[in-house]
Formats: sequence, C-alpha cells, structure tokens
Amino acid sequence: QQFTVVVPAAGVGKRMRSNMPKQYLPLLGKTLLEHCLDNLIAHPRIKHIVVAVHPHDPYFADLPIAQAPWLTRVNGGAERADSVLAGLRAIDDEWVLVHDAARPCLPHQDLDALLDLADEEQGGILAYAVRDTMKQANAAGFVATTLDRSHLWHALTPQFFPLAELREALTLALNANAVITDEASAMEWAGKPVKLVEGNPCNIKVTQPIDLMLAEFYLSKLLK
Ligand code: C5P
Repeated sequence: QQFTVVVPAAGVGKRMRSNMPKQYLPLLGKTLLEHCLDNLIAHPRIKHIVVAVHPHDPYFADLPIAQAPWLTRVNGGAERADSVLAGLRAIDDEWVLVHDAARPCLPHQDLDALLDLADEEQGGILAYAVRDTMKQANAAGFVATTLDRSHLWHALTPQFFPLAELREALTLALNANAVITDEASAMEWAGKPVKLVEGNPCNIKVTQPIDLMLAEFYLSKLLK
C-alpha cells in the first residue's frame, strides 16, 4: 500500500528573522522544502505529495519540483490547520500523512515504523521521550512546579491518521476555536486515540537560525 503526504508550507516563518519563509532557506544546494519533499518521495511507500503554499507565495513556482508529476499544489490558509485541511480536500485515500515543510531530516526507518500503524488500524505520530527535567513556569518567571517527565514526549511529524477522521476532527476543532498546533491535538480533541511511535530526535523542525547548521550536520553526516 502506498500513501499520500500533505505538507503544510504556507507559513511565513517569523521566528527565523529572515526575509524569506524558512521552507525556502538554502541548505546544501537546495531549499529546505525541496529536501523535505525529495526525501519523502524517495520512500517506496509514498506515491504523492500535496503541498499547501501561500496564495501569494513568490518562490514555489520557480522550484524545479513544482512541475513534478507526483506533486499537487493547493492554497494554504491562515493557520496551519487550515493549510492541512486544504491539502486533505485534494486527496481521496483511506489514510494520510502530514509532515512539516521545515523537517528535512526524517529518517526512512521512522517513516516505516509510523506507516505500519495502518495494519493496526490506529493513527499516531512520531515522537521522542523528554530527557531534560521539565519545569512549569508561573507568570512571574519562577518555577511553579516540576513535571513528571516520565510521561512527556516531544511530538514530531509525520503524523498519520485515517483521512476522514482527521478531516472531521480538524473541522470540529477549528470551528470550536480549540488550540491545535498539530494534527494529533485535533484528534485528541475529538476523543480519538493517538499512538506514540518512537522517532529519532534528529528529525528537527528548523525554527531558529542555529537549526540550519544542525540540519546540515544531520543531512550530511547521519542520513546519507
Ligand atoms: O509555524 P510552525 O513552525 O508551527 O509551522 C509548521 C508548518 O506549518 C510549517 O511547515 C509551516 O509552513 C506550516 N504552516 C502552514 N500554514 C500556516 C502556518 C504554518 O502551512 N498558516
């Protein structure tokens, strides 16, 4: 069985302090977005990618992959969840993966482990266990409490769910103004199970300038 990935790439990337959205930053000769898409489509169980791009995006059309037969472009929305929903509307599969444009270092073994959930008929996400001690802060910037880290995980992407269930959960959560920062939060909000699949912490989301150096290291030293 082969699967489709929705890649939300319609963010404006304010945190990188760059004049260009982070998915277009150059890394080892191509943009972050191209690394992300090339890595996904190179996996034998991925057949198609839907990319949600900002309607006035000036960069995407100039990328060589913009013409690729395995790629569909849709217009993104105001929030990440709106962009993902726009992508979901363009496909008609039973299952769907959602992966951040800013995560170029996804190992194929992790993708395999996640896709195996389709056989168990339950959705889930890549994640890794928290290693640092986690503090909850109060409004004054002091520690309010120390959290029990044995139950805390970092949520990564891809996230993998039955398409109809994810579409319904995102629509309901958006209509209710729920806080949803990933697809799993919408599924949780709708009361659906979300399995945690242990992934490699090298699958970073490039968010700050230093992350570009880390991504370069992972791509050139670990994933080749
Ligand atoms: O801002 P953040 O790092 O959470 O964005 C995660 C992903 O969601 C990025 O790939 C970004 O381009 C995408 N996004 C989007 N549409 C938005 C906001 C973010 O596709 N309106």
